[in-house]
Amino acid sequence: MQTLLEMLAARETVSGEEISRALGISRAAVWKRVEALRQEGWEIQSRGKLGYCLKAGDRIDPLLWLPRLQTEVLGHGWVHYARETASTNADMKRLAMEGAPGGSLCLCETQTAGRGRIGRQWVSPPEVGLWQSLLVRPKLHPQNAPLVTFCAALAMADAVEEACGLQPLVKWPNDLVLGGRKICGILLEASVEMEAVDYIVVGVGLNVRRGSVPPELAAQAACLEDFAPPPLRRLVLVNYLRAMEDYLQRAETAGWEGLSESYAKKSCTLGQRVRVSGAQEFTGVAEAVDVQGALLVRDEAGNIRRVMAGDVSVRGVMGYA
Ligand code: BTN
Repeated sequence: MQTLLEMLAARETVSGEEISRALGISRAAVWKRVEALRQEGWEIQSRGKLGYCLKAGDRIDPLLWLPRLQTEVLGHGWVHYARETASTNADMKRLAMEGAPGGSLCLCETQTAGRGRIGRQWVSPPEVGLWQSLLVRPKLHPQNAPLVTFCAALAMADAVEEACGLQPLVKWPNDLVLGGRKICGILLEASVEMEAVDYIVVGVGLNVRRGSVPPELAAQAACLEDFAPPPLRRLVLVNYLRAMEDYLQRAETAGWEGLSESYAKKSCTLGQRVRVSGAQEFTGVAEAVDVQGALLVRDEAGNIRRVMAGDVSVRGVMGYA
């Protein structure tokens, strides 16, 4: 049986009479339950004879977006929503080891120990970003597991564009940037066996509203609200899950070939001067991405060098002059 909150979330307004019939309770009991939800922090307007109207604002509680999912797998597994957690990637890894099915999702309002790439911290203040981790169990050879990172970047770029019209670019391998500043970071944590991928946790942090970027990072990082009225986070999430399912299918059936055209269109790295740091340090021009997702950079001596990990800075992007 639907709960009162689910009934309110599903429609613009629901009359007291309908609720009392559906839940088999008196009108007075309906009023009491509405009051109880208000006490929990839900904004519910009374509209006379029309009934009750839930003002959900920018909330991301699953009951608000689960009915709007347009996917077959992603978002249909175990779904965990927390107001506060240490890290949704850590939560999702734990659930993966407990047997959570592919398509499971952990999302939250704030992370107290959000994880970034290369052991960095990811600052995740309450209610201003989309902090979530998706579990996928793709049918990919372990060698091709890095392709999932491109799927996530492309899917989030599409999701943002669909929700608010902004067109983020992808800085190799998977940062999303707008106006040369990072708006989204992606962290994959995988469990890979000899012949198959067991699971991949795809953690994505999208800076949506002001307050999501710490002031000391303002030169390199931004949020969607710096460029346009911010979209509802749950709308971005539903778009992301749908696009991600599509890109994953393409990667499973055609490997890098299934993604390369979309990636080239959205890349702000290919064709640009880049500086590579980390295990190997050099500058050059980013010419292509190979079938396993490595960046091919022509160095100053004219040799093509393959960059798999390490930090790549792109001239004009995120503070690289
Ligand atoms: C990066 O350094 O660019 C990657 C940042 C990834 C942050 C996201 S937020 C949701 C998920 N949970 C985490 O602890 N990290 C990822």
